[in-house]
Amino acid sequence: MTPPCTPASSAAGADRPPLNASDYAALARARLDPAVLTWLDSGGADGLTLQANRRAFDAQRLSGRVLRPLQGAHTGLTLAGLPLAHPVLIAPMAWHGLVHPEAEVATARAAAATGTPLVLSCQSGTAIETLAALPRPAHLWFQLYAQRERAHTLALARRALDSGARALVLTVDAPVNGVRNVEQHGGFRRPRSIRSVHLEGLSPPVARPVAGSGSPLFDSGLLDGAPTWEDLAWLRAALPEAPLWLKGILHPGDALLALDCGVDGLIISNHGGRCLDTLPATLDALPAVTRAVAGRAPLMLDGGIRRGTDILKALAAGAQAVLVGRPILHALAAGGAPAVAHLIQILRGELEVAMALTGCRTLADVDAGVLYG
Ligand code: FNR
Repeated sequence: MTPPCTPASSAAGADRPPLNASDYAALARARLDPAVLTWLDSGGADGLTLQANRRAFDAQRLSGRVLRPLQGAHTGLTLAGLPLAHPVLIAPMAWHGLVHPEAEVATARAAAATGTPLVLSCQSGTAIETLAALPRPAHLWFQLYAQRERAHTLALARRALDSGARALVLTVDAPVNGVRNVEQHGGFRRPRSIRSVHLEGLSPPVARPVAGSGSPLFDSGLLDGAPTWEDLAWLRAALPEAPLWLKGILHPGDALLALDCGVDGLIISNHGGRCLDTLPATLDALPAVTRAVAGRAPLMLDGGIRRGTDILKALAAGAQAVLVGRPILHALAAGGAPAVAHLIQILRGELEVAMALTGCRTLADVDAGVLYG
C-alpha cells in the first residue's frame, strides 16, 4: 500500500539501516501480509483525515532561533504528576501479535528500556498482568472502551489499576467502527489466534435487531450501549482516585464537558484518521481546545506524529506530550523490541535537535513562539 505522503528521506531497504519512522514504515511494508497492512495503515473511508494529520504537520513551519544558551538542556517533564524523561507515549493499539510473535511483550520491553509509558489497549492480546510481571516492567497505562454493562467497565478498570496501571484512558471517539473500505478491500480478518484477552468473559455489545425502518446501524441495537457524558461522570465517581484521561476529543465544547466531569487530562485525537473521515487534523483542532481548557488540565495529542519536529509543533500548539501509534507497530514488525526502542530514541533525538535549533532548552521554553507565522 502506498502511504499518503512519502517523505523524500524515506530510503530504507535491505541494505540500509532505518534512520527514521518512514524507514521503519518501509521495512514493515516489505514484511507484513498485505491484508494486515491495510488494517494497520489505512484510515476511514477515503483516508482524508489520515492524510490531513500529516499535512498539518508538514505545512507548519518552525521559527529557528540562534545564539540562545542551551546548557543543561533536557526533555523531562511532569505529566499530571508523573515524572517522565521525554514527552512521548505509546498509543493504545489492538493486537500487536498481528505484526510480531512477541506482541505486546516486545513493545513493553522497549517501553521500559526507553522510559516510555505504554498505553495498553483493552483489545491487546497480552494481559496487563503478564506485562506487569516482566522483570523490568514498563510504565503502564490502560485504555478502556466503555462496556455495555457499567459493571464490566468498572471491572476492567479495577483489573488494570490492581495490576499497577498508573492511569486510565477512556477512548470515546469510536462507539462504532468507521467505514473501513481499504481494510475491506484488503480482505483483512483477525486470525482466531489473535485475541482480545481483557474482553473475554465480558458480554460483547449485542446487536439486538428491532423492528424499524431498516436502518442498518440505528435499528441494530448496537448504539443502545454507547456511552454518554453520564457514563463518564459515573466512572469518575466510581474511581475518584484513578488518574483518568479522555481520548478522542477534538471539539472545545466537548473538552469543557469533560473537565466538568472531572477528568485529569484530555487526548486530542481522531483515532489516527481511522474512524470518522473528514474530521480535522489533530494539529488543526488543538489550538481551539487549548484556548478553551486554558491550562485547567493537561492535553496530549496523537495522529501523524512521525518526526521530532512534529512533537515540537504539537507541544508548541498546547500539548504537554504526544502519543505515537502506527510507527510503533511498523518498528515492531521490522525488528521487535530493539527496533521499537530504536524508533523511540530516534524520535527523542529528533526532538532534541528541533529544540536546540529553535532555542528551547527545556519543554517549558516550547511555546507558540517556535511556530512560524
Ligand atoms: C489504533 N488506535 C486505537 N485507539 C484506542 O483507543 N484503542 C485501540 O485499541 C486502538 N487500536 C488501534 C489499532 C491500530 C492498528 C491503529 C493504527 C490505531 C488509535 C491509536 O491509539 C492512535 O489514536 C492513532 O494510531 C494515532 O495516530 P498515528 O500515530 O497512528 O498516526
